[in-house]
Amino acid sequence: MELAAKPARRFLTRLLILGVIAFVVPFAYIVTIGGGGGCTGEFCLFSSPESLTFSTGGSAAFVRVTDGAASASSPIALRELWTSRDWRKTVDFYSSAFQTLAAEGFLSPASKALCVGSGSGHEVLALKEIGVPDAAGISRTRAPPLVSSGNLYRQPFKNGTFDFVFSTNLIEQSPRPVDLAAEISRTLKPEGFIAVHTASAGDAYSLRSLLDLFPSCRLIRAHEIDGPLPSTKLREIILQKLPGTEIDNGDSPYECSVVPDHKLRILTSAEPLIQEEPLKPWITLKKNIKNVKYLPSMADISFKRRYVYIDVGARSYGSSIGSWFKKQYPKQNRTFEIYAIEADRAFHEEYAKKKGVNLLPYAAWVRNETLTFQVNHEPDQKVDEKSLGRGMGRIRPSAGDSVNGLLSDDLHSIHGFDFAEWLKITVSEKDFVVVKMDIEGTEFDIVPRLFETGAICLIDELFLECHYNRWQRCCPGERSPKYKNTYGQCLDLFSSLRESGVLVHQWW
Ligand SMILES: *[C@@H]1O[C@H](CO)[C@@H](O)[C@H](O)[C@H]1NC(C)=O
Ligand SMILES: *[C@@H]1O[C@H](CO)[C@@H](O)[C@H](O)[C@H]1NC(C)=O
Ligand SMILES: *[C@@H]1O[C@H](CO)[C@@H](O)[C@H](O)[C@H]1NC(C)=O
Repeated sequence: MELAAKPARRFLTRLLILGVIAFVVPFAYIVTIGGGGGCTGEFCLFSSPESLTFSTGGSAAFVRVTDGAASASSPIALRELWTSRDWRKTVDFYSSAFQTLAAEGFLSPASKALCVGSGSGHEVLALKEIGVPDAAGISRTRAPPLVSSGNLYRQPFKNGTFDFVFSTNLIEQSPRPVDLAAEISRTLKPEGFIAVHTASAGDAYSLRSLLDLFPSCRLIRAHEIDGPLPSTKLREIILQKLPGTEIDNGDSPYECSVVPDHKLRILTSAEPLIQEEPLKPWITLKKNIKNVKYLPSMADISFKRRYVYIDVGARSYGSSIGSWFKKQYPKQNRTFEIYAIEADRAFHEEYAKKKGVNLLPYAAWVRNETLTFQVNHEPDQKVDEKSLGRGMGRIRPSAGDSVNGLLSDDLHSIHGFDFAEWLKITVSEKDFVVVKMDIEGTEFDIVPRLFETGAICLIDELFLECHYNRWQRCCPGERSPKYKNTYGQCLDLFSSLRESGVLVHQWW
């Protein structure tokens, strides 16, 4: 082990250990089972007495260690734990899993093995029992003698220390999965193996997210195994570190031109696009939200670095963030960072009071420039200040000239920014990114810009309102004069997005 112990400290530890061993002899058989006396590292010895508290959750016993309060009862408690049925069952589960891996050549008696985040050390004991003596565990909390404590993101091991690293249900629960994966890769020898047990990664999308965390490794196999509890299933994923690669913790250049398989699978399950132009779009499109197949309802979104929701053309907080995203979007218990992009000043004050929402008080555009926007209104609506304040007024770029004889009061100067570039600075493909876009026709400028810059690949799921010369509710047989584009052009936009692997939904 690379645990740096200064000679003096090591001596003291040894002295303590001797004392403890005298006390512990009756239970010593536990430590040596299967270890064959091969435990040379400090991990195999008892260290200073700890006060241990035990609890049993489900069938998996775990142990909590409280430092300081030395208690003579700890070896007894340890024996109680280690002789409990739950402990035994869990160790047996891992023994059997590791034996299979050993038979397949991923593990051998000579392997230097590490279990990361290994609770009270079932996995470590299992490794020793099947004849891998050089096995250790590291966890945030100590559980001696099998597991030492350490910062999982800065493990006390040199590069290329281990032949085999194991973790179970850890990476997907980590607040920093990218850093954790990089640290696991770092301590692994080139051509060493990582075995991951997880309840996630059961679909192609989730497996892809996991693999993206290990850019220096290749997938050997992923398959389902029986979990430790009756009728539970786990995924067992084996990765191998590529020979001689330095770990690239950065973002790999994203392959955007080919639609990857995990995205294709999602797209084949998505709701179909509405092919026929709706005669009553105000009903059809609004109803369509019920048909939407949300990405998190089709795939596991674990293994992502951050979870980000960007509302482009957010308007008031309640119009979609509060009423839809917060309440209806399935989040798999993840906390999303929220960005509201809204240029209309009428809405800005409200966002100042909203915690956890980042307001960008600009208009999403294709470059950074000051734009003159036209606040426009429903044609049959009287222009008045009140409706502006309530958000009936909407903004769209208007080349800056005086349009259709509108009053100059309706022309506002607004800062437009390059949304595609901003997206590339703000998120990466390791993040889970949901975008809602309702930008009054500017989608016909911004979507091509997203393609041109490659930023489109950063979006996992897009809810897009496409603005066209729709049939109007007020006036049968009349199309809206507000927009020039046709439904066919909208359909082309949606189709091109889906063909490029973007899960886009028709928003109203
Ligand atoms: C260990 O690996 C990390 C990550 O790949 C690298 O940045 C660092 O330079 C390496 N350290 C040594 C001593 O080789
Ligand atoms: C979310 O958390 C709740 C309570 O912690 C839990 O009951 C539920 O199963 C979790 N849902 C998912 C999808 O993980
Ligand atoms: C454009 O504006 C955005 C948002 O204000 C800013 O982050 C970015 O640095 C600007 N880019 C350029 C090239 O000025």
